[in-house]
Amino acid sequence: MMESKLLAAKTMDGKLESTGKVCVTGASGFLASWLIKRLLLSGYHVIGTVRDPGNEKKSAHLLRLEGARERLRLVKADLMEEGSFDDAIMGCHGVFHIASPVMKSSSDPKAEILEPAIQGTLNVLRSCKKNPSLRRVVLTSSSSTARARDDFDPNIPLDETSWSSVELCERLQIWYALSKTLAERAAWDFCNQNGIDLVTVLPAFVIGPSLPPELCSTASDVVGLLKGETEKFQWHGRMGYVHIDDVALCHILVYQHEAAFGRYLCSSTVVDNNELASLLAARYPSLPIPKRFEQLNRPYYELNTSKLESLGFKFKSIQEMFDDCIASLVEQALIYMSATCS
Ligand SMILES: NC(=O)c1ccc[n+]([C@@H]2O[C@H](COP(=O)([O-])OP(=O)(O)OC[C@H]3O[C@@H](n4cnc5c(N)ncnc54)[C@H](OP(=O)(O)O)[C@@H]3O)[C@@H](O)[C@H]2O)c1
Repeated sequence: MMESKLLAAKTMDGKLESTGKVCVTGASGFLASWLIKRLLLSGYHVIGTVRDPGNEKKSAHLLRLEGARERLRLVKADLMEEGSFDDAIMGCHGVFHIASPVMKSSSDPKAEILEPAIQGTLNVLRSCKKNPSLRRVVLTSSSSTARARDDFDPNIPLDETSWSSVELCERLQIWYALSKTLAERAAWDFCNQNGIDLVTVLPAFVIGPSLPPELCSTASDVVGLLKGETEKFQWHGRMGYVHIDDVALCHILVYQHEAAFGRYLCSSTVVDNNELASLLAARYPSLPIPKRFEQLNRPYYELNTSKLESLGFKFKSIQEMFDDCIASLVEQALIYMSATCS
């Protein structure tokens, strides 16, 4: 994957020796499931936290992963229960904190989105603090923690120094972006005060095959787009996109790479939804992709991902991420296509 300065021990012939034990929170989710697949393939022992280990429908896909029988254990933990992550995290060298509510609307955003994201992150970090084996925490943040602002120069791509405006998120009631921004800020404060080595990953909109049988919020928006619905995708406006496998590989890279520090934007390509729709319509002529979206009054932006690329990372293209995503949706009979892509 990537060269040089990895934290994991190497044998004389350069292969990874023991990659150690790591915890992944929110294991049964879209992104966490893919990360666990990649971690198991790389030889890690993984403790995955789920809210209900008895729910076979939500965990069966994890238990089928290569290496899962020998090296995956699922443990019960809830973001809103103090100390709930202690057992899962104790003895782990690394923690990938991924669990966070991903929903756009809520009748009670404070209780359903903000508190689990912010207090839940602090709850996980308090368990990390109790663990003497801990080497590094990787927090899954979001590009929405950097781009929800209206005071920047559109000619200068946003980089990791950019933070979303809390005031703007509150005013426009963008609860998800607000929850991720406040959770990441709280994580930095806590880790700086308590000497925890933290690295954060800021993925753009994640595209790719879904391992969980139930589609998460963003994956179901993509299905809607491919079925010709404009309503949900309209709202996304201009957006960065990234392959799910790249997001998983990025998490592992910044965990392993000795020199990784701070925040990492993780996005392959930023496009307007009209550009995305015409690209997809040309590539998949048999799908009823919407012709045009209403243009929203949002600032133009690009994302500068040179910090991640300087670690040797290369992104898959927007075509590749949608090819893989669409192939898996067809296989799962979630969309139907009469012809192959051009
Ligand atoms: N998908 C994207 O495009 C995207 C982009 C940028 C960042 N991210 C970030 O990536 C992470 C994963 O998102 P995803 O897209 O994979 O969505 P997802 O499938 O909905 O995953 C969210 C996970 O969080 C868990 N969770 C929510 N509330 C919880 C609570 N109170 N206690 C314990 N676990 C809780 C969920 O558990 P249950 O399964 O039990 O509900 C689920 O496993 C999130 O941090 C999200 O902000 C996603």
